Amino acid sequence: MAGLPLKLGILGCGAISQFAHVPAVLRSKRVELVALCDAAEDLVDQVAAVANVKKTYTDYDAMLADARVDAIVIAAPDPFHVPLANRAMRAGKHVLVEKPLGETSSQCLELIEVQKQTGMKVQVGSMKRHDPGMVFAKRFLKEKAGLVFSVGAVYRDSIFRADMQESTLDPLRVSERIVKPQNDPKAEREHYNLFTQGVHLVDNVRYLAGEVLAITAQVSHHNGNWSWHGLLEFAEGGRGHFELTCKSCGDWCERYEVLGDNGSVQIEVPLPFYHRPSVARCYDGQTQQWTQPLGGRSNAYANQLDYFAAVVQDDLPASPDAYDGFAAVQLLEAIEQSVITGQRIAINQPFGEAT
Ligand SMILES: NC(=O)c1ccc[n+]([C@@H]2O[C@H](COP(=O)([O-])OP(=O)(O)OC[C@H]3O[C@@H](n4cnc5c(N)ncnc54)[C@H](O)[C@@H]3O)[C@@H](O)[C@H]2O)c1
Repeated sequence: MAGLPLKLGILGCGAISQFAHVPAVLRSKRVELVALCDAAEDLVDQVAAVANVKKTYTDYDAMLADARVDAIVIAAPDPFHVPLANRAMRAGKHVLVEKPLGETSSQCLELIEVQKQTGMKVQVGSMKRHDPGMVFAKRFLKEKAGLVFSVGAVYRDSIFRADMQESTLDPLRVSERIVKPQNDPKAEREHYNLFTQGVHLVDNVRYLAGEVLAITAQVSHHNGNWSWHGLLEFAEGGRGHFELTCKSCGDWCERYEVLGDNGSVQIEVPLPFYHRPSVARCYDGQTQQWTQPLGGRSNAYANQLDYFAAVVQDDLPASPDAYDGFAAVQLLEAIEQSVITGQRIAINQPFGEAT
């Protein structure tokens, strides 16, 4: 492996690359963007000018053949994640894949198989794990809170989110020539909302409180808005409930409360593009005191990229890794199945329980 910084190529110059990955690279001392690829030549040229990147590609395989590129960020629509990641790994590149890892859990298992064959690193773009408030809360729960017995999770997307984002982001550069999946994933709105927003919720729940063994869920639908509610059964015996609403006629809201035997945490997660750290209040039963950290380096997208560089170069475990990406998709499938059947859905653990 070449020395610092990690030489990166980005596949896809759409919204998430322009709003998150390119600004993250520009802030990073651990990563150098050496190549950009998008099928839309006019778009890749515009984004390359902003990112100050000399080498552009319209052909993904040509970028994969570029020996200077160590790792690829896959920032393409969901149905392309697994096939594009597999091609990258077979070409000897590590991958940071946008969330959700795949469209289905069985597709994610295919990716895990290719990862095993190639030995490449895979990290999934559930970047909230790299928000300093979340990191602090996770460590507190592990070290101080004891056995988790109650979890509450609320994630409400707002009908005002586009306006909120517009107030803080540069205008999106667009092209008529972008590549889209044959079947528009956004056409099936209920499924799309559950997966694209719900993946953050279920990944955060697992990150904070551990493996979920069963789910029972219901949904209400009104005027193009959905609200999923459900009961979570955790491997260590705890119980939790969640609400996922897309969208609410109200502010952005993402909140987690986790109660352990010896302590508890309350977390408020802001809209990601505001780049504020989550407010994590942690109560320690032993000292009978609250702790609330302030994390200065609060751009979760930048932190996830720096962490990914350390995964590749210092051999750290990816977070979330491919298994976490699989498990998140599996939980979303279970929610969907429970809504349809009205049944409690037990989660099959093909690799045993996560540690
Ligand atoms: N982590 C987050 O907070 C977050 C936020 C938004 C979107 N996302 C995820 O990011 C992903 C991308 O979303 P987006 O809104 O940026 O998509 P987008 O459609 O705006 O951009 C995707 C780009 O990829 C290009 N592309 C696709 N396949 C290609 C190929 N084979 N070769 C060359 N170019 C190709 C397209 O031309 C397009 O420009 C999605 O999976 C989405 O879920 C994550």
